[in-house]
Amino acid sequence: MHEAKKNIIRKNPAKSIKNETPLTLLSLIEKKKRGKELSAEEISFFIDSVTEGSAPDYQIAALLMAIFLKNINKKETYLLTKAMLESGHVFDVFNQHTIDKHSTGGIGDKSSLVLAPLAAACGVTVPMIAGRGLGHTGGTVDKLESIPGFNTALTIDQFSDQLKKFGLVLMGQTESIAPADRKLYALRDVTGTVDHIGLITASIMSKKLAEGAAGIVMDIKFGSAAFMPDKKSALKLAKSISAMGAAFGKKVTCFITDMNGPTGVAMGNASEVLESLQVLQGRGPADLRELCLELTAEMVFMGKLAKNKRDARFKVEAALASGLALKKFDEFIALQGGPNEFSQQAKNLLKIAPVKTLVVARKKGYVQWKDAYKLGEILTTLGGGRRKKTDLIDHAVGIQVNARIGDKVQVGDTLMIIEHHEHQKNLIENILKEIEKDIVVITPKKPTSSKLIWKII
Ligand code: URA
Repeated sequence: MHEAKKNIIRKNPAKSIKNETPLTLLSLIEKKKRGKELSAEEISFFIDSVTEGSAPDYQIAALLMAIFLKNINKKETYLLTKAMLESGHVFDVFNQHTIDKHSTGGIGDKSSLVLAPLAAACGVTVPMIAGRGLGHTGGTVDKLESIPGFNTALTIDQFSDQLKKFGLVLMGQTESIAPADRKLYALRDVTGTVDHIGLITASIMSKKLAEGAAGIVMDIKFGSAAFMPDKKSALKLAKSISAMGAAFGKKVTCFITDMNGPTGVAMGNASEVLESLQVLQGRGPADLRELCLELTAEMVFMGKLAKNKRDARFKVEAALASGLALKKFDEFIALQGGPNEFSQQAKNLLKIAPVKTLVVARKKGYVQWKDAYKLGEILTTLGGGRRKKTDLIDHAVGIQVNARIGDKVQVGDTLMIIEHHEHQKNLIENILKEIEKDIVVITPKKPTSSKLIWKII
């Protein structure tokens, strides 16, 4: 492990090599505005200024917008990723079995909760630094925080210790991991510069490369409830991330998966923990189970713990069936401050909102998703997600989504169950109207559903 760039305050302003004029953020903005390539010194000057706090927000925002409009090439993306990675603490690779997984997120995506202990039960060392939810997507850290006492804020030393002794850590991003990304992401979020392939690549990879994993399995989602709207843009991001992995000497496999509807049935922080437990207990929704098995098998194979993908899948299924993965999950929860033998008491310990409002089919036909993204927004309206980084979360509210795309339904069949509080009854009328109008519709013709895993690259 090494402390990268701890002291980044420049005594002398950086000079551009050719003309010896001191670099300024204005000169970088002028250059990028004209579509010119930024040099290594310029990119590292930019990131140093962001990290040390000397760059004003308006100049960072202007440069981000210039990048957004004029683009950065592969070399600039590499240099940006490197500078962002080195803005904080970088762990050395722990061992060749150290593999992480990252998902670009979507609604009901709780696969990390299942696959982290499942992979660890198969011998993978899992150093997972996860995010919080923002906007319509949920975050693994928020879900874990619905477990009483669970600590997602470990120090760097605690992280290393637990990884060494137990082989699995799951915690939130700290101030010391890629701090430049925290600052840039907060500004991108309010300046319309999030959806840019180069900036997304540098943001994701700067954090993931810092964890000390030998390889990363990426789940890149496309569809109405995902960050990437369609297969084409998801493929573009996958190629960019794979190229960045190769440039840093890391193994990266990208799964490109469907997120036109929620993954599994449960949405909402505590409900998603319960559903993850069901999968670890050998039950749970088929789509979630299959996604977790496939992603974990890739982690096992990438971590050199199986001779081929088939063997890896066999190992993973055995770890699930034997209860080893569930045991690992319970041990991990207790190690990070949660209750002992959590899985046996989860139903009593996790708070689920008491009022259940059913969403029923008003006509017969087939279920079709229109805009599943809005389901995430409804959860946020109920308090289960945040609009601003500082918002507090209500872990108890949720939505159980029974309807899958292409299901045949009769009048009165339950499509969803909204779990909310008594005092939120006034919100429900509008929510029901919105679900019926914009989210799930009943069509006379059976819609075709796409495959859960579209491509693996
Ligand atoms: N997730 C990240 O961590 N960064 C992005 O830019 C987008 C998604």
